[in-house]
Amino acid sequence: MAMLLCCAACGEKQSGGISSDNSNATLSSKELEKEVQGKETNSDLNGGDNMGKILIAYFSATGMTKPLAEYASDILNADIYEIVPQDPYTEEDLAYYTGGRADQEQNDPYARPEISGSVENMEQYDTIVLGYPIWHGEAPKIIYTFLESYDFSGKTILPFCTSHSSGIGSSADHLHSLAANANWLDGERFAAGITREEIESWLTENNLQAASVSTDPQAASAGVGIFDLEKKKAFQSVLSALSIICYST
Ligand SMILES: Cc1cc2nc3c(=O)[nH]c(=O)nc-3n(C[C@H](O)[C@H](O)[C@H](O)COP(=O)(O)O)c2cc1C
Repeated sequence: MAMLLCCAACGEKQSGGISSDNSNATLSSKELEKEVQGKETNSDLNGGDNMGKILIAYFSATGMTKPLAEYASDILNADIYEIVPQDPYTEEDLAYYTGGRADQEQNDPYARPEISGSVENMEQYDTIVLGYPIWHGEAPKIIYTFLESYDFSGKTILPFCTSHSSGIGSSADHLHSLAANANWLDGERFAAGITREEIESWLTENNLQAASVSTDPQAASAGVGIFDLEKKKAFQSVLSALSIICYST
């Protein structure tokens, strides 16, 4: 099937456009995408409505935030990125109110702990679900490093946190100035032991939904949505993926 589509895409490219069916004149792939999305495939891009492609990014020092991020990634079929400190936190570093490393960082407005690695191709994401633990009522300073490392202009950021007892409070609001051009949604605090279902309903409340696998032939021929190709889920465009191959050969 992939071969067939590839040939079709290459053939169309040579004739100067991509046509949605035999009767239709040539439309650009953007026009086609709009046309088909408008009809029935809005929710096929992961994220409901206009939430676009989603990244779950999180920091978890002692493992409480991590499973919630994993639930979200699993529920949304979204990429996941762990913010890993270059210099890992030891138990001693994390013993709070002892004047240890974490305490010192939280008290230092200029502290920006280094991150090991980076998000590959951040431009591709439209929505970031950002998870962190509460440290002294705020997000850990490594979250500040993360937000200062990329351009979040035009992206939507949905924060969540875990804590012993503190709410999300102003922790998320204090992050806004670090990615001032992002569209910040109200965040949520979760206690330890929260269920997958609770994460799912929170995501749904925020208009984030699981990507669905499209079998709509019209969507497939326009290259919009998610398709099941030989048991592998291929995000986005079958056709645009194939036309990239064609254009580059
Ligand atoms: C340095 C430090 C400061 C903390 N400050 C708070 C706090 O102000 N309020 C609170 O409820 N929990 C606080 N906690 C507890 C964490 O927020 C909580 O254990 C969180 O769920 C840990 O998430 P993680 O395992 O993903 O790192 C603090 C923990 C650390 C290490």
